[in-house]
Parts: sequence; structure tokens; C-alpha cells
Amino acid sequence: MQTSQFEEAVEPIEQVVVVGTGFVGLPLALQLAKAGKSVIGVDIDEQLVAAINDQSLNLDEDKLQNLLESDEVEENLQARTSPTSGDAFVVSVPTPLTRPQKSPDLSMIKAAVESIIPHLEEGDLVNIESTIPPLTCEEVVVPMLTEAGFTPGEEIQLAHSPERILPGDVFEEIVHNDRVIGGINEESAHRAAKVYEPFLKGETYFTDLISAELCKLMENTFRDVNIALANEFALIGDSLNLDITEVIELANRHPRVDILNPGIGVGGHCLPIDPWFLNEVNPEHTNLITTARRINDKMPQASARKIRHALSEFDNPTVLALGSTYKPNTQDERLSPANEIVDELRRDGYEIEHFDRLVDEKQYDNLKMLIEKIQPDAIVHLVGHSETISQLEELKPWIADQEIKLIQTENGNPLRL
Ligand SMILES: NC(=O)c1ccc[n+]([C@@H]2O[C@H](COP(=O)([O-])OP(=O)(O)OC[C@H]3O[C@@H](n4cnc5c(N)ncnc54)[C@H](O)[C@@H]3O)[C@@H](O)[C@H]2O)c1
Repeated sequence: MQTSQFEEAVEPIEQVVVVGTGFVGLPLALQLAKAGKSVIGVDIDEQLVAAINDQSLNLDEDKLQNLLESDEVEENLQARTSPTSGDAFVVSVPTPLTRPQKSPDLSMIKAAVESIIPHLEEGDLVNIESTIPPLTCEEVVVPMLTEAGFTPGEEIQLAHSPERILPGDVFEEIVHNDRVIGGINEESAHRAAKVYEPFLKGETYFTDLISAELCKLMENTFRDVNIALANEFALIGDSLNLDITEVIELANRHPRVDILNPGIGVGGHCLPIDPWFLNEVNPEHTNLITTARRINDKMPQASARKIRHALSEFDNPTVLALGSTYKPNTQDERLSPANEIVDELRRDGYEIEHFDRLVDEKQYDNLKMLIEKIQPDAIVHLVGHSETISQLEELKPWIADQEIKLIQTENGNPLRL
């Protein structure tokens, strides 16, 4: 962690306005409220605002849920549909892609910054947490603030502190992950660190705005490219009739090799999107990155092919598909490969009953009772929620007795290529 004279000199932050209280913004608001800060959570989603205020929101992590229901959060967090004044404004709104161009859609960043401008006062901090393409702070946010009469770095401070939390383990990661903070100047970066100081146990690293923007995209692109490599290995293994998991384990015995797990595809709000932000900045030098993206995008189709093959012994089978989120142990279904696979198989005419223990509209109480009710010819296990893995493991002998085909990997994990 770098230190400087700013660390001691920066003004403390008492009231934080978090704009966008979704997967990223809400955990921050909760941690700050728990730490005794006065927090305003702003979201354009009225239902979400109401559910935060009456603490009725259903979160997918027990520890986050307990936090939401705590007395400190009731006392210190107020959700609203529009901003008020504060010492620090943290922007955590979505940054999707435009389709079909796959260019960054910064309209929500612009709307969020526009909404805080009337409430800004000299000395305030604007801290963008959303994942943004390099130069967004400089070319989008700075001009908006300047036009409103504030020179970032002088009257107000501007920072970018991208979030790195893992959905499913947000409660731990938001506290323990190291944090990179870019500032328009050193003072801004150190002031932004004050936002996280009340709960952060990871280290803080300071840099400039563009480096922080690029750093976050490099992290997600690294994951995406390495997953694509594992997925290509799996496709090769498949063509050779080999269990690729075993071969990967053997290859990983090499001291400098660490191949990731292949899967049914890459979903969520980060990995399928963020590498394209780099392509926007420098299309000449993103050949590997965009190829990896396309490989991962095609995995649901390859997985559907594999399932079709496994189902070929049945005439008009009834299939129970388990799991609809984009990764295990979360409720998040955004860009979920599991859903893409189910859609594709349904388009083929397969009768699929699709359930997910963690997703409200797809929930079931008891897996055995669900199977008894549906009486499927086959069960396709798509997402490895810990609970589903252990329940299926337990039910395996009974499922075999019922002559139901279980389509998953041999070690009990979800389908993998
Ligand atoms: N989900 C993750 O795991 C994750 C991890 C790291 C970074 N990020 C990044 O964080 C950012 C936010 O992602 P998220 O997953 O929290 O999105 P989200 O959709 O869960 O939440 C964003 C919230 O912002 C609200 N919103 C949109 N426009 C608004 C506005 N003008 N004013 C107030 N609220 C507004 C939406 O209603 C929504 O509730 C994105 O840039 C994303 O790439 C996400």
C-alpha cells in the first residue's frame, strides 16, 4: 500500500450516497451502514427501494441477508429513488453492451452522474465503481462535471474504484479483497479510500483513473481468455473421448501450469461484457481476447449438442434441467448459459422442466419430491449449487433405481464438456 501526506490530510466521509443498489451497490451500502456511516442508497427501481427500506429484500447470501436485517442497517441506511446531498457519491449502475454492436452502453453512467450533479457541493467526492472502458472518467465524467461548474481535482474530487466481488461470496470478498483506486489526483484517490476504510481489511493500492479502468478490464479478460482455453481443451478432449477433467488435473501437476475448469459457457454481467470494452479501445490488439469471447459464447451450443447426444436413446423424453443461474450459489441469471441451453433444447422440441433452488420463479422445496412429480426420463444437471451437488449425490442410487438418466460429470459436478 502506498502512503502519502494525503492519507492523514483528507477530510473524513460521514454521509455516502450510493447510486445503484444492485449486486454491487447494495453490499457496499450495507457494510457502510453496519459500520455506522449514514448511507443513502439510490435506485430508479421503486420496488427495490421499498424492499430495502422495509428490509424484506431476499438476498442469496445468508450473511448479507442478516446484514440487511440488522438494527444498524435499519438505523443508518435509507433507500430513495433520487439522490440527496452527501460527502461522497459512489456510482454503481450497470454498464452493459449495445447490441448487436457490442459497444459499451454508458447511458446509465451518464444518467447517474447527471442525477447527482444538482446535489454536489465543493469538497464532495464522486467515485465511479461501475466497470467502465478506459478514458470514460476523462472523456465522459469529467466533461459533465466541468460543464456543471465543478473542476474535478479542484472543487470536487473524482476517483474510480472498480469492484471485484465474486457473486455468492460477496460478504467476505467486499471486506477482504484488495482494492485498486484510481484518482484524478492523489487527494481524490485517498479520499475515496476513506469510503472503504470503515470495513475494508484488504490492502488498498492507488493509481490514476485510466490505469484503474484498464486494470479491472484486464482482470476479467484474463479470466475469460483462460476459461476459453480450458473450454477448447474440453472440446478437443471430447473429440478424443477423454475425460478432460482428469487430463487437466495431470497437466496441472506441472509447476507452472494452472488450467482452469471448462464449463457450459460464461455468463453474468462481467466476463461476457468487459473484454468487449477493450476491443472498443483498441480493436487492432484484441484478436486473442475476441476469439476467446466467441469460444465462450459458443459453449452453450456445444453443451446442448452434448445433451442431445446423451438423450438420443429416448423418444420424446421429458427432461428435468437443474440450475438456471450463470454460476453456482447465486440467484443471478444474467446471460446464463444454462438458460441458453434450455432455450435451445426447447427450440429443438424437447420437453424440459427447468428448476433452480435459488431462483424465486424456479424454486422447489424438495428435490426428491420434484423428481417424483415430474417423472423425467433424464435429469440434466447444469449449475453446481453446493446444495444440489450434495442432494444429487445422495439421491443417485434412488435415481438409478427409477431408471432416470443423470447427465452430469462422473465426479458429481454439473455437465461439463
Ligand atoms: N455483479 C457483479 O458481480 C459485479 C462485479 C464487479 C463489478 N460489477 C460492475 O458493477 C456495475 C453494477 O453492476 P451490478 O451487478 O450491481 O448491476 P445491477 O443491475 O445488479 O444493479 C445496478 C442497479 O442500478 C440501478 N440503476 C440503473 N440506473 C440508475 C440510475 N440512473 N440511478 C440509480 N440507479 C440506477 C438499477 O435499477 C439496478 O438496481 C456494473 O458496471 C458491473 O459491470 C458487477
